[in-house]
Amino acid sequence: MITRRRPGVKADRERSDPSPLMGYPTRQRRWIDHQSPALQRPNHLRKNFFNQLIPNLLAMFLLFMHEWGRSQSRRLLPIDERTGKPSSSPLDEPGAGVNGKPLPSPPTRRAPDHARPVPSQLPDSFHHMNQVVLITGANGTLGLAMARAWLEEPRQTGDPPNHRVWLGVRRGRDQAAALAEEHPGHARLIDLDVTSPDAWRAAVATIHATDQRLDVLVNNAGHHDDHLLAGMPAESWQSVIDSNLTGAFHGCQSVVRGMMGQRFGRIVNVASLSALLAPAGQTNYAAAKAGLIAMTRSLAKETARAGITVNAVCPGYIETPALDSMSAEGQRAAKSRIPMRRFGRPDEVAAAVRFLSGPTASYISGAELKIDGAIY
Ligand SMILES: NC(=O)c1ccc[n+]([C@@H]2O[C@H](COP(=O)([O-])OP(=O)(O)OC[C@H]3O[C@@H](n4cnc5c(N)ncnc54)[C@H](OP(=O)(O)O)[C@@H]3O)[C@@H](O)[C@H]2O)c1
Repeated sequence: MITRRRPGVKADRERSDPSPLMGYPTRQRRWIDHQSPALQRPNHLRKNFFNQLIPNLLAMFLLFMHEWGRSQSRRLLPIDERTGKPSSSPLDEPGAGVNGKPLPSPPTRRAPDHARPVPSQLPDSFHHMNQVVLITGANGTLGLAMARAWLEEPRQTGDPPNHRVWLGVRRGRDQAAALAEEHPGHARLIDLDVTSPDAWRAAVATIHATDQRLDVLVNNAGHHDDHLLAGMPAESWQSVIDSNLTGAFHGCQSVVRGMMGQRFGRIVNVASLSALLAPAGQTNYAAAKAGLIAMTRSLAKETARAGITVNAVCPGYIETPALDSMSAEGQRAAKSRIPMRRFGRPDEVAAAVRFLSGPTASYISGAELKIDGAIY
């Protein structure tokens, strides 16, 4: 059946269709429907074109104005006869001025303090730097070896070493006293229970009053008291944390201001391989020494800008009375687990501490140095 449309009345589809092809006759619309989709959206395309055109024109205009401004400013400069090009402005010449008076030199901008690099502290000769050193727990095996590393340091120049080593002692003092007698004027005993903030204050005040500075602090005092955690007395936990960790905290706090004032300082914390291996039976000791390493890293960041380095050493099995509690069989088994197949010597630990305390270690901070024959 043929339906006729009355003139002036639009078909239903034409009336309801909001498409942009609205104005096209139906046959043409069908044709367009089969063409590229772009043809079907002329309004949309037109909008995109104008959206991009206006920013592009604006950018071209700004570029033109910029180039024009530059060419105008160069026209004001005299022409260089040799090159035929405008010479540079006379005001650019160093020392040029107006009416014979030199122009004030532009203010030189100093980098803000936090952005300036910390200078290297390497002196001309490492051996010319005499240090004032405090070693805690200096009557113990490792403490004595460390003190000797300063007091008996071989010198390239032939001059005797001129360090001052303060030997921190608590209960035992006989071996430290003997060492001080061997090195009169260079080694002195000082009473220091590291768990007491008052003792720290008094000791550091005495050192400053005598030597006017303190360059190196070695937090060496410490002890262990091994138990399985299930049966560990609370006092054992607390005393091990106190001597190994809290003592070092009091020490760092007591010396760090003075070191900041002198813009030089070295702190070496004696941790342990137990902090990394954490053997059974040492939850207190391993926790204390691991805390000491974390404290070392954090404090290193706080003091880096003041020329103070803070490092930790982690000795493994070292030939000290601490090993006496091990049976001969246990020692053999321990050695077989060490890739170097031997225990370390106290002077090998002392050499590492001495190196980290010297001016040549000026770019090492926040480190933990294992001294363990490659066991870990
Ligand atoms: N020996 C090793 O194989 C080994 C391995 C890894 C780490 N370490 C660590 O190295 C350091 C020294 O070890 P070491 O073998 O030389 O031990 P050590 O011979 O037993 O000497 C420890 C020293 O620390 C002192 N001390 C302990 N608690 C103190 C406190 N509260 N205040 C002041 N002084 C205190 C002791 O003094 P008193 O005479 O008053 O008790 C002693 O002089 C320790 O921190 C230890 O944990 C040792």
